[in-house]
Amino acid sequence: MKRYGLIGKTLGHSFSARYFAQKFEREGLSSSCHYGLYELSDIGQVEEFVRQTPNLVGFNVTIPYKQQIIPYLNSLSEEAREIGAVNCVKIMADGELKGYNTDVDGVRLTLDKLIGSADVGGALVLGSGGASQAVKYVLKERNIPYLIVSRDRAKGDITYAELTHEVISNNRLIINTSPVGMYPHIDDAPALPYQALSSSHFLFDLVYNPEQTKFMKLGSEAGAHVTSGLDMLYAQAESAWQIWNK
Ligand SMILES: NC(=O)c1ccc[n+]([C@@H]2O[C@H](COP(=O)([O-])OP(=O)(O)OC[C@H]3O[C@@H](n4cnc5c(N)ncnc54)[C@H](OP(=O)(O)O)[C@@H]3O)[C@@H](O)[C@H]2O)c1
Repeated sequence: MKRYGLIGKTLGHSFSARYFAQKFEREGLSSSCHYGLYELSDIGQVEEFVRQTPNLVGFNVTIPYKQQIIPYLNSLSEEAREIGAVNCVKIMADGELKGYNTDVDGVRLTLDKLIGSADVGGALVLGSGGASQAVKYVLKERNIPYLIVSRDRAKGDITYAELTHEVISNNRLIINTSPVGMYPHIDDAPALPYQALSSSHFLFDLVYNPEQTKFMKLGSEAGAHVTSGLDMLYAQAESAWQIWNK
């Protein structure tokens, strides 16, 4: 039995566990592959987890260990090194652990579908946390200039209060990497002047629950193209599967 799984501090409902159980079922792999949930109260327990889990091929990493796992790894992919966060670990043939960041694959796929080759001018990245690092990586890769919008001037390039009509019309890709609008706070939306949006704007919400957030709803009402974080969620899981099996 090949083993895969997810490590984190508290793992309640896990998208990944459901995703892989359904995948194994669909692809006739249920008798040969298992995806488990492993709650670690401290990241220091990861070494014992790896040692004591027979036939472990790889595992995903979630809050709060995406950065904390790094000192326990032998190597990192270029993306994981630059972003400074790991959400996927592969046990290599020699037993060494290599860290990857597959959120970038999810961001790439979503941007391909959302903007194609449209000229967006620049991008506004709402929030300066972990997920914003993966978004920044892909924007740099695509030579799309961006401003980080933060509640705190010191953490970003601009604050929400400084989002004028001019800023909004020059930056026609807006990516929400903050948890604002996430279940159960479904009536909240990032503080933008939504009336400044038009049909040449593209809104990408990393939030995937609910599937249509208030941010997306207000954007659609102003004529903008919108998408949720659901495609990204599926893409990062599938990308982990490819890494474990290549
Ligand atoms: N679709 C996917 O596959 C996927 C993957 C990863 C993450 N996500 C989603 O992305 C979101 C962020 O995840 P994360 O890991 O980056 O979280 P995080 O590290 O906690 O960062 C979120 C950032 O959002 C801003 N923020 C937090 N609370 C806010 C509030 N009440 N109002 C305005 N801004 C606020 C903060 O930036 P400032 O302090 O600079 O304002 C914070 O650094 C979550 O909803 C997560 O579920 C989705």
